[in-house]
Amino acid sequence: MNEHKNLTNEVGAPVADNEVSITAGSRGPVMMQDVWLMEKMAHFNREVIPERRMHAKGWGAYGKFTVTHDISRYTKAKVLQPGAVTETFTRFSTVAGERGAADCERDIRGVATKFYTEEGNWDLVGNNTPTFFIRDVHNFSDLNRAVKRDPRTGRRSAQNNWDFWTLLPECFHQITIVMSDRGIPASFRNMHFFGEHTFSLYNEKNERVWCKFHFKTQQGIKNFSNEEAAKVNSLDREYHGKDLYDAIEEGDFPKWTMYVQVMTEEQAANHYENPFDITKIWRHAEYPLIEVGELELNRNADNYFAEVEQAAFAPAHVVPGIGFSPDRFLQGRLFAYGDAQRYRLGVNHNHIPVNRAKVEVNEYHRDGAMRTDGNYGGAPAYTPNSAGVWTAQPEVMEPELSLEGAMYRYDPKDDPTDDCFRAGGDLWRVLTEEKKQILIQNTADDIASVTPNIKYRHAVHCYLADPEYGERFTEAAGLSMDKVKKLAKLDNKSLIQATISPIME
Ligand code: HEM
Repeated sequence: MNEHKNLTNEVGAPVADNEVSITAGSRGPVMMQDVWLMEKMAHFNREVIPERRMHAKGWGAYGKFTVTHDISRYTKAKVLQPGAVTETFTRFSTVAGERGAADCERDIRGVATKFYTEEGNWDLVGNNTPTFFIRDVHNFSDLNRAVKRDPRTGRRSAQNNWDFWTLLPECFHQITIVMSDRGIPASFRNMHFFGEHTFSLYNEKNERVWCKFHFKTQQGIKNFSNEEAAKVNSLDREYHGKDLYDAIEEGDFPKWTMYVQVMTEEQAANHYENPFDITKIWRHAEYPLIEVGELELNRNADNYFAEVEQAAFAPAHVVPGIGFSPDRFLQGRLFAYGDAQRYRLGVNHNHIPVNRAKVEVNEYHRDGAMRTDGNYGGAPAYTPNSAGVWTAQPEVMEPELSLEGAMYRYDPKDDPTDDCFRAGGDLWRVLTEEKKQILIQNTADDIASVTPNIKYRHAVHCYLADPEYGERFTEAAGLSMDKVKKLAKLDNKSLIQATISPIME
């Protein structure tokens, strides 16, 4: 790597000097003729590419995924067959902060894994929580506007954050997780992660089941308190990146066990709530975890920009045997990632080595900026063609899915089975006393600067999830329990109306 080599310009010609400009006379101006200087400055000016719109700050590593159990009755995906070993690349991220943000912020963590399978790439783009704030793709850009910088002050705003979160009660379960001790993991190695959405699996007979993906850390869960995180952030803003990198360099490879939960189409049709709503979870007691295999991270990237920054994951990338579901949030993501990457990295971003499939790619796409391979030479560029090359493979067609109902804008809140507080209440009830205290304190600290109307909205949601949760948050936030109880009798629209003004009676 550091062996002596001669310096060249951008097209391989020798460079005489890389430190002293050519000037007219020893004290005179710089000459345009110093073309290497012009090239050097021009390239430097273009070195920053757009950061990811969210999940901008991240760290990544290569690894392998090994299937240890047999789930072939559910899926024909080769990557999920017993004994299969597949190369992977995983990137961890915080969501709200920009590329220069500190690692140990209270936030959810993104975890995206690219499986370079023998049937093409499969990208599982998840988070370290089993659920999400919102469930309609329409709300996604707004969520990010609310958690990112305020347009007037340029600063992050707890007011905007909590206003948005509490106006959409489906955020409640995820807020509870983010405010709990799990809101600041001690390291990426010490957290679980999840596909979150309902996906599908289908087997050789094209029989479909719905499925959720879970990855449980083998390193054990460890978290930071606010105080610990503040200290770490003040000493090393790249703490999580360093932890992951060092562990891998030292041969202490982090591992996660992968499980799936499976629901049949019949179970889904009779489920007590919408199984395709990402803000709902499937209880483990009803849909037990089925072990599948192990993900191990064992090799650091050689170059951060080339491999970690230019990594591009897309939920649209699935392989035969793994499919999508009617989840309206997932459906939106199927478009968003490729589109963002065409802007961030260019139309040929899948040719960048970290993104390139390990199998032959024959896709009929041609040309575009930064086309650096042979562009398929003289092979036909259209289909159908008479040359008989690159024919479609109908045998990988997914099983058909019957749909019902009229086309319309259906608000999930109008679904009579919808309960935004069940899962958050269930979570509260399984927390130990110590964890309850941490959750209440973290929430009270985080919401402290927010106006009372918004605090009341959250207090009501806590109360609806579990009266004890409501009472303890109300007390910690210095609110009136009588008022919370009164507001808790209102339906969601009336509650919003009653808490719309920052000045509450
Ligand atoms: C409709 C909802 C969503 C939309 C429209 C959306 C869109 C995006 C976009 C545009 C990016 C940047 C991609 C890039 O520049 O490469 C991104 C990154 C990411 N998103 Fe989402 N997202 C959504 C929901 C979610 C959910 C529910 C999860 C987790 C289950 C998630 C996990 C991630 C992760 C982990 C990354 C970073 C990937 C990386 O490391 O490169 N997103 N998202």
